[in-house]
Amino acid sequence: MSQKQQTIGVLTSGGDAPGMNAAIRAVVRTATDLGHKVKGIMRGFTGLLEEEFIDMDAMSVSDIISRGGTILYTSRCDEFKTEEGQIKGAEICRKHGIDGVVVIGGDGSFRGAEKLAEQGIRTIAVPGTIDLDIACTEYTVGFDTAVNTAMEAADKLRDTAGSHERCNLIEVMGRTAGHIALWCAIANGSEYVLLPETYNDGELDKLIEKVKSKHKIGKKHHIIVNAEGIGDSFEIAKTIERETGIETRATVIGHIQRGGSPTCRDRVYASALGSRAVDLLDQGQTSRVVAYRHGQFTDYSISEAMAMQKTIDPNLDRLIHKLSR
Ligand code: ADP
Ligand code: F6P
Repeated sequence: MSQKQQTIGVLTSGGDAPGMNAAIRAVVRTATDLGHKVKGIMRGFTGLLEEEFIDMDAMSVSDIISRGGTILYTSRCDEFKTEEGQIKGAEICRKHGIDGVVVIGGDGSFRGAEKLAEQGIRTIAVPGTIDLDIACTEYTVGFDTAVNTAMEAADKLRDTAGSHERCNLIEVMGRTAGHIALWCAIANGSEYVLLPETYNDGELDKLIEKVKSKHKIGKKHHIIVNAEGIGDSFEIAKTIERETGIETRATVIGHIQRGGSPTCRDRVYASALGSRAVDLLDQGQTSRVVAYRHGQFTDYSISEAMAMQKTIDPNLDRLIHKLSR
């Protein structure tokens, strides 16, 4: 333990992600083990500004590791994007004796963490988003569960697409990133994937040509994965049906991808990241993000992490076209 006992705040912010509870549990238990106090900050930065805190001890996080969602609730808080909001947040932390805050969320939440650190409250960010859209890490809390949920849904859609000899377009989440779509497309043996990172004007024509040519050589049903960042799946489905003459349905999987009991990987990695975040606060560090990269748990300064660019793995993208028949 560091010399001084600290009071550590923990909050979840932005879209919830399965595994956030495992991260909260790791934060609370690592902190209390090191002799620190923990305050749960409810509903993300909204709860910080409204001084909605709960005292947490090791027992307050019992039986949560297997639960989806976040026991601390989450929100999107516009007030915290303003300098006044950030100053107010830091003053509230000082008023309640909070020395450092673990912020579990996506890149928006990281910006909030960085701003709070600039106001003198030490912060460590934990990547918690199903989107896998954070460049400094090959893993984000919730992606594994979400992509498995999407995969299972797409398996089911394949059954009905097969029975009706239809084309099925499946829209998955990811905001402006295509990682869920890419992984889902490979895992489901899809024929085509539309990714925001690589989408261009001729893409839909290429997709239609592919469906037509596969249909000509006897393919009975077609599975296409669409990342939500591309556009309206129902309109795309109509275009495919009109241009190919194949009956086409669109299914938006939606928020189901954000729920459910976290996978083993999400529980284990979220635990390791949450624990590391507290170790960093214990060492007196601030404005850092914990990550998993090149086979190990590590950390970066938030500004360095935010400057990195995340790309789609071109080899995975190529694999879909190489393997589909
Ligand atoms: P995510 O963290 O999943 O990317 P958002 O982008 O919605 O989700 O961000 C979550 C919250 O983080 C926002 O509602 C806001 O409270 C905070 N936040 C986002 N951007 C900033 C910013 N530039 N400065 C301060 N806080 C921010
Ligand atoms: O960032 C996680 C995410 O689920 C995105 O994939 C999606 O675009 C967005 O959040 C949906 O947000 P909301 O829950 O506000 O509809």
